Amino acid sequence: MRILSLAVLPLVGSALASSSTRPPLGYHRTNKTAPACRAVPGGKDWPSTDLWAALNKTVDGRLLQPAPPGAVCHPTQPTYSSAACTAVQANWTDEFFHSGNPVSVEWNNWTNDTCLPDASLPCSGEGYPVYVVNATTPQHVQAAVRFAHTNNVRLIVKNSGHDYVGRSSAPYSLSIWVHYMKNATLHPTSFSPTNCKNVTIPGAALTAGAGTQMLDAYALTHTINHTVIGGNGRTVALGGFITGAGHSILAPQYGLATDSVLEMEVVTPGGDILTLNECQNTDLFWAMRGGGGSTFGVLTSVTMTLIPSPEIMGMTFWIGTGADNTQAFDMLAWVVSQFPDLADAGISGYPIVFNTVKNFIDGSDTFIKGIIGKLIVPNTSNATLLEGKMHDIFSHVNATWPKMFGHYNTTYYPDFQAWYAENYDPSPTGHENLMSSRLLDRPALTNDLDALKLALAKFSAAGQATVYIVSGPAVHAAKPRGGGNSVLPVWRRTYVHATATIVYPSNNVSISDAAKTFTGFFSAAMKDLAPNTGAYMNEASKYETDWQTTFWGDNYHRLLDIKRKVDPDDVFWCTPCVGSERWAEEADGSLCRV
Ligand SMILES: Cc1cc2nc3c(=O)[nH]c(=O)nc-3n(C[C@H](O)[C@H](O)[C@H](O)COP(=O)(O)OP(=O)(O)OC[C@H]3O[C@@H](n4cnc5c(N)ncnc54)[C@H](O)[C@@H]3O)c2cc1C
Ligand SMILES: *[C@@H]1O[C@H](CO)[C@@H](O)[C@H](O)[C@H]1NC(C)=O
Ligand SMILES: *[C@@H]1O[C@H](CO)[C@@H](O)[C@H](O)[C@H]1NC(C)=O
Ligand SMILES: *[C@@H]1O[C@H](CO)[C@@H](O)[C@H](O)[C@H]1NC(C)=O
Ligand SMILES: *[C@@H]1O[C@H](CO)[C@@H](O)[C@H](O)[C@H]1NC(C)=O
Ligand SMILES: *[C@@H]1O[C@H](CO)[C@@H](O)[C@H](O)[C@H]1NC(C)=O
Ligand SMILES: *[C@@H]1O[C@H](CO)[C@@H](O)[C@H](O)[C@H]1NC(C)=O
Ligand SMILES: *[C@@H]1O[C@H](CO)[C@@H](O)[C@H](O)[C@H]1NC(C)=O
Ligand SMILES: *[C@@H]1O[C@H](CO)[C@@H](O)[C@H](O)[C@H]1NC(C)=O
Ligand SMILES: *[C@@H]1O[C@H](CO)[C@@H](O)[C@H](O)[C@H]1NC(C)=O
Ligand SMILES: *[C@@H]1O[C@H](CO)[C@@H](O)[C@H](O)[C@H]1NC(C)=O
Ligand SMILES: *[C@@H]1O[C@H](CO)[C@@H](O)[C@H](O)[C@H]1NC(C)=O
Ligand SMILES: *[C@@H]1O[C@H](CO)[C@@H](O)[C@H](O)[C@H]1NC(C)=O
Repeated sequence: MRILSLAVLPLVGSALASSSTRPPLGYHRTNKTAPACRAVPGGKDWPSTDLWAALNKTVDGRLLQPAPPGAVCHPTQPTYSSAACTAVQANWTDEFFHSGNPVSVEWNNWTNDTCLPDASLPCSGEGYPVYVVNATTPQHVQAAVRFAHTNNVRLIVKNSGHDYVGRSSAPYSLSIWVHYMKNATLHPTSFSPTNCKNVTIPGAALTAGAGTQMLDAYALTHTINHTVIGGNGRTVALGGFITGAGHSILAPQYGLATDSVLEMEVVTPGGDILTLNECQNTDLFWAMRGGGGSTFGVLTSVTMTLIPSPEIMGMTFWIGTGADNTQAFDMLAWVVSQFPDLADAGISGYPIVFNTVKNFIDGSDTFIKGIIGKLIVPNTSNATLLEGKMHDIFSHVNATWPKMFGHYNTTYYPDFQAWYAENYDPSPTGHENLMSSRLLDRPALTNDLDALKLALAKFSAAGQATVYIVSGPAVHAAKPRGGGNSVLPVWRRTYVHATATIVYPSNNVSISDAAKTFTGFFSAAMKDLAPNTGAYMNEASKYETDWQTTFWGDNYHRLLDIKRKVDPDDVFWCTPCVGSERWAEEADGSLCRV
């Protein structure tokens, strides 16, 4: 979330709307002799020190047993140091700190608050992995996967640690840390997929390690005047982004990031290193492009087609009104209903609805409601399209509703990198954060403005909600290599990715329970508006009901078949993830079959 200051948990009571009644896909424990739970330290099947030492040899001495980063603030911990504590506290809101640490993640609760950098709170470290392989080669990954499989150890994958649904940390686990898999190679003119003799794909491409982060991918591709279709954060890494779909401000004009994938290298749950493309391992190639992270294997590198870096006409706009203006959401619903037409005309962007926030526009001590955002049109130096559309929107708003104020202006950028350098997502991290989201298609956005108004008002009740225009014509028409990929099919008719975020204080059970309740309330408000769409799994609620359909729709059953085939023993497990139904985390954090 950006631009606005952090929302605080609103203390208004709101009933949870009824959740879906579709029965869950159930699985029964068939093999009664397999261990009921993954090993836990101290348990009789936890691998011996010698076994861990042997793994360490196999991975070239790259096995780590990291202390939780916050331990430096706790006098009872061996790494305690008041100077180090000051530095960690100062860096706790910094995305680079968490992505550069072997075990730290961006949102506190995903380590169950078990060692925050605050001496007044407990520090057991139990929410963190026990061991970490600092992998730089597919062979390191392979060794870790085989070790976890053989020894019944819970396995996770951490990259940048950005995950909003908590998949990149887990108690009692071995973590494969892929952050340093950053080797990247440009193919300036064309790419031929491996063992695909009949195919040469024209145009520039990038092969990059799965730990490659957005800012590095953009910088490297800029050296040949191209760009990757990437996200707006700086430290988001390709691993989670590509496996989850990858939306981009360039997606409405060029397709989703995962639509641009030409080839992947993965380590399977069985420990094989495979190359996936349209000619070989095609089922896994399909599943790894949208089926989600840490489920079908570990992505070690990915090849993506690039686009010539487009010049960008950018716009900043806002429309606001006093928080007491009862017509605020009539205006907001109408403005948002224009987004499908804007996207079809070539416009994309990151608008955010704000609901009863301190007046950040003139700094006065009043409260306002409204919408603010950045829009772009790629491949043009002509501002007429953006200015014309926004002029029409302002005219309608001015003529229809009193007491609105607003502003827009345009700025030209010679290439995408120039736009990104000024407009990347600078969101702070290191707090408690729950998200809820929904993808909205044209009917949801235009059929019933009263319903849209109600949904937006509820959905932004925590202070703000994104209504990002990150899908549109090119996503709808995309022809991913190999005949398709596994992203939620609803992307092919989506215009707006709407997210609501709850930020709340640490270590307060009743507040965190309330935060969870609000997440359900937000999801329900959007489901009422758009019952037949779904949500983007990388930016969603961990507690989404009916998550199989919500995140994967009709692709779920094929994804599940592939998961069962490639990972019959559930070496990879996370939630909400494909095929996770036959295990559950117990109250103490151990992972057991259901
Ligand atoms: C500030 C910010 C901005 C964002 N902007 C965008 C955006 O513009 N567009 C967008 O689509 N999303 C965006 N996201 C969401 C982002 O896509 C997800 O958070 C994604 O999960 C991050 O992937 P990661 O690998 O960096 O993070 P991690 O948290 O390390 O990993 C996320 C998931 O992927 C798995 N994973 C990671 N690497 C691999 C791998 N090599 N092989 C297999 N599994 C792997 C992890 O196990 C976990 O399940 C943003 C998030 C933040 C916090
Ligand atoms: C059941 O699990 C045990 C122990 O993991 C394993 O040895 C055996 O092969 C499994 N049986 C089947 C039928 O999968
Ligand atoms: C792994 O081996 C390296 C090099 O010998 C050593 O420095 C490191 O401490 C070992 N890791 C663990 C967890 O013992
Ligand atoms: C914390 O941030 C400072 C700069 O703000 C940096 O110099 C320092 O290395 C960081 N420390 C850690 C542990 O990341
Ligand atoms: C992980 O490996 C990278 C690359 O070799 C190295 O630079 C880094 O220091 C290692 N991190 C830790 C914590 O060992
Ligand atoms: C990096 O990529 C180049 C070119 O693809 C390759 O030759 C090299 O072996 C890779 N290095 C590592 C460490 O993976
Ligand atoms: C990129 O564009 C710049 C400016 O147009 C030009 O000078 C440069 O030669 C181009 N570089 C490549 C690799 O095409
Ligand atoms: C190339 O050949 C493979 C089989 O080797 C086939 O599956 C694929 O569809 C072919 N691709 C094209 C573009 O003809
Ligand atoms: C910009 O686009 C408009 C509308 O297409 C066109 O009328 C105008 O001539 C263009 N301006 C320039 C400078 O090309
Ligand atoms: C709408 O009103 C605002 C402020 O009241 C004004 O700045 C703007 O020019 C008007 N826009 C149009 C298109 O009428
Ligand atoms: C116009 O847009 C630029 C870039 O988005 C921004 O920095 C600038 O402050 C804007 N001007 C006004 C008057 O808001
Ligand atoms: C925080 O994480 C713990 C442990 O996974 C979980 O039990 C709890 O429900 C989570 N709380 C929230 C608000 O997500
Ligand atoms: C989270 O931590 C609490 C103690 O603060 C503990 O009681 C609970 O079992 C932990 N939950 C998980 C899922 O580990």
